[in-house]
Amino acid sequence: MKIAIFPGDGIGPEIIIQAIRVLEVLRSDGLKFELEMGLLGGCAVDATGEPFPEGTRKLAIDAEAVLLGAVGGPQYDMLLREKRPERGLLDIRKALNLFANLRPITLHRDLINASTLKPEIILGLNILIVRELTGDIYFGEPRGIEWRNNQRVGFNTMIYSETEISRIAHVAFQAARKRNHRLCSIDKMNVLECTQLWRDVLNQIAKEYPDVELSHMLVDNAAMQLVREPKQFDVIVTGNLFGDILSDEASMLTGSIGMLPSASLDNQNKGLYEPIHGSAPDIAGKDMANPLAMILSVAMMLRYTFNLESSATRIEHAVKETLAQGYRTNDIFEPGMKKVGTAGMGDAVLVNL
Ligand code: IPM
Ligand code: MG
Repeated sequence: MKIAIFPGDGIGPEIIIQAIRVLEVLRSDGLKFELEMGLLGGCAVDATGEPFPEGTRKLAIDAEAVLLGAVGGPQYDMLLREKRPERGLLDIRKALNLFANLRPITLHRDLINASTLKPEIILGLNILIVRELTGDIYFGEPRGIEWRNNQRVGFNTMIYSETEISRIAHVAFQAARKRNHRLCSIDKMNVLECTQLWRDVLNQIAKEYPDVELSHMLVDNAAMQLVREPKQFDVIVTGNLFGDILSDEASMLTGSIGMLPSASLDNQNKGLYEPIHGSAPDIAGKDMANPLAMILSVAMMLRYTFNLESSATRIEHAVKETLAQGYRTNDIFEPGMKKVGTAGMGDAVLVNL
């Protein structure tokens, strides 16, 4: 296995160390892999002036999978848009054609009290958000800020082609097939033509999946339903912008955004794996960050890119066990539990592995 590792910025480097330790344990078990480290995001801007430098592009293209910590930080806020760390992330997604972003929203039983929602609303929660990742208003042209009639106007373009919609729809229908056979597509067709097309294409493709029950929901209602009755959802499919927003919202159902991994896949199971959370500059370097989303991203990598289901579940079980034993980083801490830092949490997971 050829894996490129981009620790990135903020807490990225500390959490990625814990992910590498997990991989090293699996090495002693017979898994063979090569790790290549590279620069993406703010650290790449500091070193080369570019958030996604050529060397990083080569590493990423040569690798079978990419593990990414997190990118961004306030020190980069004044940079031009094309030099910002986030641009590195958008560029790598586009360069590798990672159009399918899978964000599983699952609640660990032992963290039920870490959520701000009532236990009965979230007990047993298990949603998969399938977010389109290389289109929509994120990449649409024209875009910009310009002068018109003596004032500045800002504009972006929400755009999806049938091809883009249908390929993400297939990913979502197939995922629903492996789960509870229910798919909810989220759009804003009462206002936006782009998402009318989205709905039409979803309905058309549904005919190829008679065993999956397709429903549609408007995004504002979906935002409400996610906190009202989240267990009504099995698989959610939506565009890039709505998916960005709804996945942050959904993450809080589980108590902490620090728990959730994600996979971004092309059409051949090449993938980039990263936590849903950001670079958390406020706690960077303090041994406070929760490394579990990063460690669980390794599990997703073994499952989706390398088809190593048993190694993936082994990591997931070790995490579960660690939580059951009461180990908690600050973000998920409750009185009576054992407070640990980033490295301490890594240690506990390794013991359980
Ligand atoms: C995410 C992040 C990114 C996005 C940012 C950092 C560009 O919020 O992966 O959800 O908006 O896609
Ligand atoms: Mg986001």
